[in-house]
Amino acid sequence: MAHPMIAPSILSADFARLADEAAAVADAHWLHVDVMDAHFVPNLTLGLPVVQSLLKATDIPLDCHLMIEDPGRWAPPYAEAGAHNVTFHAEATDNPVAVARDIRAAGARAGLSVKPGTPIEPYLEILKEFDTLLVMSVEPGFGGQSFIPDVLDKARAIRRLVDAGELTLLVEIDGGINADTIEAAAEAGVDCFVAGSAVYGADDPGEAVRKLRERAAHASPHLTLAP
Ligand code: DX5
Ligand code: ZN
Repeated sequence: MAHPMIAPSILSADFARLADEAAAVADAHWLHVDVMDAHFVPNLTLGLPVVQSLLKATDIPLDCHLMIEDPGRWAPPYAEAGAHNVTFHAEATDNPVAVARDIRAAGARAGLSVKPGTPIEPYLEILKEFDTLLVMSVEPGFGGQSFIPDVLDKARAIRRLVDAGELTLLVEIDGGINADTIEAAAEAGVDCFVAGSAVYGADDPGEAVRKLRERAAHASPHLTLAP
């Protein structure tokens, strides 16, 4: 059985101290980096230069979540820079397969993300082109929002396909994950849990990661803390 993956989101970290904030969660599986362009979402965060600097400042694999328009143009450079996983939004492109192939060709894993209101059925056929599916459990744009439990049906549906051997894919969830909500997500079959405010709003972010991991393992039928 696999371990629960916790991906702290630096959206809730201190942007002037990103190297320290990464070091504070050193045993996290991935570090989640929210790239927002003020067009696809009504917020602006950071872009490629900051990701390039962060890559030099931490050994934690970077999980770049691109909430941007035109990912066909902007996503591959994150892979070329050395990001481990590059996720873009299904709603942002007419050709997600081409974007995924470019990301993989540049050496990263490719992720597809869907907003809470976006169904997954139209994308089932193309998910074999991806390594991760990022199910948004809040409207993308801001940290600290409340978890939308309805989206767990999408996680369950993909979990069934993965367990049936029809897909090889990590199921990731993003938005409103904390000690109260992570168990429901784990029960639904999520592998990787993004948490921003629940980690960086805690007095000890490293301890918050460990606690979330324990709760996920406790609630999940397919994840464990055992070696
Ligand atoms: C929201 C971002 C999330 C955000 C999650 O658009 O994609 O990654 O950081 O923050 P919390 O965990 O506070 O909901
Ligand atoms: Zn995110």
